[in-house]
Amino acid sequence: MEKLVITGGTALHGTIPISGAKNAALPLMCTCLLTDEPVTLNNLPRLADIATLSDLLNHLGASVTIAAGSRGTQRGRKLTFHAAEIHDTVAPYDMVRKMRASILVLGGLVAREGVATVSLPGGCAIGNRPIDLHLKALEALGAKIELEHGYVRASAPDGLKGGTVRFPFVSVGATENILMAATLAKGTTTIENAAREPEIADLAKCLNSMGAKITGAGHETITVEGVEKLHGTVHDVMPDRIEAGSYAIAALMTRGNILLEGANAHDMQASLDALQEAGGIVEVEENGVRVRSNGHVGGLNIVTQPFPGFPTDMQAQFMALASVAEGASVITEAIFENRFMHVPELGRMGADITVNGSSATVRGTAKLVGAEVMATDLRASMSLVLAGLVAEGETTVNRLYHLDRGYERLEEKLRQVGAVVERVPS
Ligand code: EPZ
Repeated sequence: MEKLVITGGTALHGTIPISGAKNAALPLMCTCLLTDEPVTLNNLPRLADIATLSDLLNHLGASVTIAAGSRGTQRGRKLTFHAAEIHDTVAPYDMVRKMRASILVLGGLVAREGVATVSLPGGCAIGNRPIDLHLKALEALGAKIELEHGYVRASAPDGLKGGTVRFPFVSVGATENILMAATLAKGTTTIENAAREPEIADLAKCLNSMGAKITGAGHETITVEGVEKLHGTVHDVMPDRIEAGSYAIAALMTRGNILLEGANAHDMQASLDALQEAGGIVEVEENGVRVRSNGHVGGLNIVTQPFPGFPTDMQAQFMALASVAEGASVITEAIFENRFMHVPELGRMGADITVNGSSATVRGTAKLVGAEVMATDLRASMSLVLAGLVAEGETTVNRLYHLDRGYERLEEKLRQVGAVVERVPS
């Protein structure tokens, strides 16, 4: 087990290269199940979740190799995923429990093999996170769903048939699963109330480059005309809008000035709007987005929503910012039922936060004090790192495996802009 030791108080100045988006890369990797040809992805981040899903895809029959001409530079890794044949249609519990996004193999497996047995992912720290919408959507395309011994078995021996999928509320993963499955269904599928996150558009772009016929991705209704077969492709993973947003907050909190190299402002507009409301100065430049402080951090009001609303994955990080604002903030988590685990840990650093149901009232304090804190989930961990960057003295963040799931080379990137941070064995 490792921990981060951060000494707060340095204004961060310089350039941070933004990596490929974890939440785009994971579904993109699953597209290899839909074809017997190789799928090469550029700009993959070096993250634990990518390794975990690579292991699962390999278990199912895909070879995962470092692609020729891989640019081992800051531009991330270039990997080729080639499922020439599927050797196994079962995603076992001991692999799925490590990462719930493993459920994203379900749609591709059913579409390709007519059957898939995937361990139910189980809940996680931020909530129960059921997969009922994934399963109902597959049923709408003719799949038979059986639940047995903690596994879900989806079967469509005669192939999936196009149909209408109407989501009662937005689900990113369910939209991605059914989008992949629909590409090989017989006939046309309409997905209503689809998630509109930029990662969906990136997935559709990759699938269309493989021969799929998808229109409307990024909007609330997506249409997919099923095709016989998909071919291989080479696709660039989009930049990580949550990583970029997290470092943008570091610039504001430390009263610094950071260029988020490679960030796409359009993907992160709601986060940038909130940053500007809190006193940040945001400038879109040719090779990224620059965020700097105007010397003050004001309070702000946030309600998390599906895209293009304020992203739930930025809630914990904004709470760290609100903790040191000159004023009060109200932050409401409307997507997950238990995504305030960072509150008690921030409280141990002196933050003044009162939680009332799904809302937290944060009274900004002049300073936070460094402490030994514990990461509980990916984005909560980042909020503790952000607090440590401005806290007086030393902050130690334990359970770094949460952080390593979503932030590539975190301490390296922070040191590059002047932060005093070390990764040490616990
Ligand atoms: C994706 O998770 C992201 N993960 C999450 O990022 C992100 O927080 C979430 O979308 C919302 O934006 C990946 O892309 C790998 P949902 P996902 O299905 O697809 C409920 C991070 O920090 N729901 O949009 O699992 C669910 O419980 C991670 O990078 C059902 O009830 O999220 C939640 O309350 C955390 N039934 C809400 O919908 C279902 O079948 C939204 O979940 C599916 C979801």
